[in-house]
Amino acid sequence: MAEVRIAASVLSCDFGNLERELAAVSSADMLHLDIMDGHYVPNLSFGQPLVFRIRQLSDLPLDTHLMVTNPAAYVDPLADLGVQWLSFHQECEYHVHRLVQRIKSRGMKAGIALNPAVPLSTLDSILPELDYVLLMSVNPGFSGQKFIPSVLDKTATLSEMIALRGLPTLIEVDGGVNAETAPGLISSGAGILVSASHIFSSHDRAAAIHSLRVS
Ligand code: DX5
Ligand code: ZN
Repeated sequence: MAEVRIAASVLSCDFGNLERELAAVSSADMLHLDIMDGHYVPNLSFGQPLVFRIRQLSDLPLDTHLMVTNPAAYVDPLADLGVQWLSFHQECEYHVHRLVQRIKSRGMKAGIALNPAVPLSTLDSILPELDYVLLMSVNPGFSGQKFIPSVLDKTATLSEMIALRGLPTLIEVDGGVNAETAPGLISSGAGILVSASHIFSSHDRAAAIHSLRVS
């Protein structure tokens, strides 16, 4: 099995010290950027000006998670800013297949994010088109929430679906990931683990990142 990738979610970083915070997580495999619009989720986070600055300050691949009601409007601006991975929630888009193709046509990896209550069956037709699926293990909107344990079985079931169909699709899990929840997720088939509070609440960010790799 390929080694798990760690995506450090900047939502919990000290934005007043962005340069220092990004330098401290340089051992992560990617940066996870949570874009929230205050409509799809009850929180506002940040937008393109901050993505621009983050791109200047870090060489890590940017994995952007759109929690917005109009994801199509973000594809071109984020591609222009150098984002490499882009996921959206399919209930926010009438033409999911078309949007996935647009994301890929801009050279980005395309993912669909599923809230905890959204079943895997909603992926049935689109799965072969996706580079990754983002399974939410908290309800989206905030960092620092408690992991929802049923996502372990969901990860294992999705992993079987992907294997049965012979697909290269990666599974990313987002929310409540820490050194206790990571091993079960990795053995269930997660290929990318997102973490905000576990990493940024630790004094030693590199050690916190490393603790997620060890299963
Ligand atoms: C939640 C975001 C997550 C969040 C994770 O809406 O999508 O990416 O930053 O935060 P932690 O790791 O603290 O649960
Ligand atoms: Zn996220």
